[in-house]
Amino acid sequence: MEIETIKFSPFKDQRPGTSGLRKKTKYFMQEHYLESFIQAAINAVRLFNQGDYLQAPLVIGGDGRYYNDQAIQKIIKVALANGYQHIMVACTGVLSTPGTSAVIRTQKASGGFLLTASHNPGGMEHDFGIKYNIANGGPAPEKVTEAIYAQSKELTEYKVATVADVDINKIGETMFGSARVEVFDALVDYTKVLESLFDFEMLAAFFKNGFTMRFDAMHAATGPIAKHIIERILGAAPGTVVRANPLPDFGGLHPDPNQVHAKELMDLMWSGSAPMFGAASDGDGDRNMILGQKFFVSPGDSLAVIADQAASCIRGYSKGLSGVARSMPTSRAVDLVAKAQGLSCYETPTGWKYFGNLMDAGRCTVCGEESFGTGSDHVREKDGLWAVLCWLSILAKTKLSVAEIVQRHWRKYGRYYYQRHDHEGLALEPANEVIAKLRASLPSLVGQKLGAFTISAADDFSYTDPIDSSVSSKQGIRLICGEDERVVIRLSGTGTEGATMRIYYERFCARYEGAKVEDMLGDTVRATKELLKMKEMFGHDEPDVIT
Ligand code: G1P
Ligand code: ZN
Repeated sequence: MEIETIKFSPFKDQRPGTSGLRKKTKYFMQEHYLESFIQAAINAVRLFNQGDYLQAPLVIGGDGRYYNDQAIQKIIKVALANGYQHIMVACTGVLSTPGTSAVIRTQKASGGFLLTASHNPGGMEHDFGIKYNIANGGPAPEKVTEAIYAQSKELTEYKVATVADVDINKIGETMFGSARVEVFDALVDYTKVLESLFDFEMLAAFFKNGFTMRFDAMHAATGPIAKHIIERILGAAPGTVVRANPLPDFGGLHPDPNQVHAKELMDLMWSGSAPMFGAASDGDGDRNMILGQKFFVSPGDSLAVIADQAASCIRGYSKGLSGVARSMPTSRAVDLVAKAQGLSCYETPTGWKYFGNLMDAGRCTVCGEESFGTGSDHVREKDGLWAVLCWLSILAKTKLSVAEIVQRHWRKYGRYYYQRHDHEGLALEPANEVIAKLRASLPSLVGQKLGAFTISAADDFSYTDPIDSSVSSKQGIRLICGEDERVVIRLSGTGTEGATMRIYYERFCARYEGAKVEDMLGDTVRATKELLKMKEMFGHDEPDVIT
């Protein structure tokens, strides 16, 4: 195997965001760009690892978007040149993010590269992304992503093996000198992990007795595994899983499972022919949306219901949870469950990487984010299919409908009315200015009115990791109005164009009256947009997506 050293001038913009490095696909395709990031990551990994980590597998998988296959070939060559002895590539190149996490853990890999821009659209004109996950199967923590960035800024050369492309569509092994490239069946390890948690026999009986569902895989990474588990293993009717074939452009859609982008599923669930349960997952399979007949389950409620019901309905959690965690902007509904069950409840910054330490230390079992992310310590990523199987288990055990389960939950705990408004495609400068001004005005906001409520505390969220004491500051501005009302404002860290401002509104009602969420939050929404001077700054103040 010959190894070439390629010289280039360093890229200065390879800092990973909330979840890896994301750019326009075309930008990623420029000469040396991907290789630079891979080499920088490998160099950074070297700083944190001793011993024979090069002997352990390195896993590669992606969400199947445009450039997935080419990127995989490039990673194989750079990894071989850097001495990795066992490279494991998912057959067809498609492996969901939770699936990759499961393989890294099962195979005791040193880590893995995940090719995904998650729920962002795919194609030459759209987005591409890459992230590195560490040996626990989870996203590299900030100290590692920052080291990758530092390496990339100085990098002037990378190594590449001059070998032929590997056929990634055929299971098997190819040797390159002493190194082995293994193309593996992407369904095996992940299925085993899920099978260890869920009672597949009970779920199969549930379908046999007439339970109906629709799973929209959005032409993305969950398609093959969802078909395998839901239709083949659990015996749901053929056609239960739709859009199951991954496509490089996700069929021209945003593979984002929310009310806006999963429109076909929404329409079905609001129609006269709705099945009993509806679900969807995103590009790389870590997000999920849960629907009943004419009923949307807000992700914060989904997390709370799963945490509440796990011990009684899901075999893998029958001994109870060790604790729960949620990202700061996520609805506090799960906090009430934790309190009732005497569990610790952690509040972390946005991004799954912050849950890793807590799970590794056994501090929490179930975690979630408002952005349609729920998961547990069976892997170190959020897991869309896992959430669907949780709900299936709860539905099968309780024999209630999705709506009844959630309403019963609200009656017991009260309800957090919740919405996230995304203001997308904003010009960067004014967006940064809005945040900077708000930040500067925080002390003076206390005591001021925000709609009908009075701001009792205003801060910029800072998190000290309880395990390694690392501090992450400036993680989102909180305007807190007593116990019951809260607004959070932050800029997205996953976008590839301009700025996206996310505003998260929530209001608690101890007695669930079934009011409309828009009516409950409307006043605060208006007041917040005025406070931020959205119209003045951006010319309009209507959000692009409300979830
Ligand atoms: C968004 C979500 C966040 C999630 C991330 C990756 O990040 O808000 O919860 O972890 O995508 O899926 P953001 O764009 O807000 O930085
Ligand atoms: Zn995703």
